[in-house]
Amino acid sequence: MNVLILNGSPRKNGNTSHALRAIEDGLKARHTVESLNVYDFTFKPCRNCDACKRNGGSCVLPDDTVPVISKVAAADLVIFGSPVYWWGISAQLKDVVDKFYSRDDASAKPTLRTKKKIGVVACGADSLSNPEYKLISDQFRCIAEFLGWEVVLDESVCAAAADDLAKDAARLAELKATAGKL
Ligand SMILES: Cc1cc2nc3c(=O)[nH]c(=O)nc-3n(C[C@H](O)[C@H](O)[C@H](O)COP(=O)(O)O)c2cc1C
Repeated sequence: MNVLILNGSPRKNGNTSHALRAIEDGLKARHTVESLNVYDFTFKPCRNCDACKRNGGSCVLPDDTVPVISKVAAADLVIFGSPVYWWGISAQLKDVVDKFYSRDDASAKPTLRTKKKIGVVACGADSLSNPEYKLISDQFRCIAEFLGWEVVLDESVCAAAADDLAKDAARLAELKATAGKL
């Protein structure tokens, strides 16, 4: 499979980054993996101008939407990783997800409405009993159902300081092993 990993954290060495690196390690034995930090790109928030609905699926804002959404469309498996920010995903990752609107029609070229697998990784400071993890998981499950995708990985990580997960070798090994089965 062609795998795309999208890291929605600004911390390049934080918990989401460590979780995604472990997942990438698990995947790359059998799959081709590309990882992107969404903070390295510019995504202007969707304005609902609907230009994309008239031009075949290209966001007209001067940003990185078209190349990044094209990578999402081309991938067989997309892993979305985010820190929990106020019970949800980071604004930067949400800006990417909002741009799915530009390619959510079957007629868009290339369309996002294709057979695709996705994974979700949410890293928050609060315990795993906090509803925030389920809120994020449910958001992606709804998106997947809408676009005809399948959720194949869904991981919640409790870690607060930037190096908390890096110190948890057992959890990292678990993430790698889970990804290795995909
Ligand atoms: C703006 C902001 C909002 C946050 N909101 C939450 C939250 O609602 N729930 C939570 O458990 N942690 C929250 N946190 C803590 C982060 O989710 C936590 O530190 C996480 O491990 C950061 O992941 P990262 O190291 O990959 O960036 C918040 C942190 C920031 C900066």
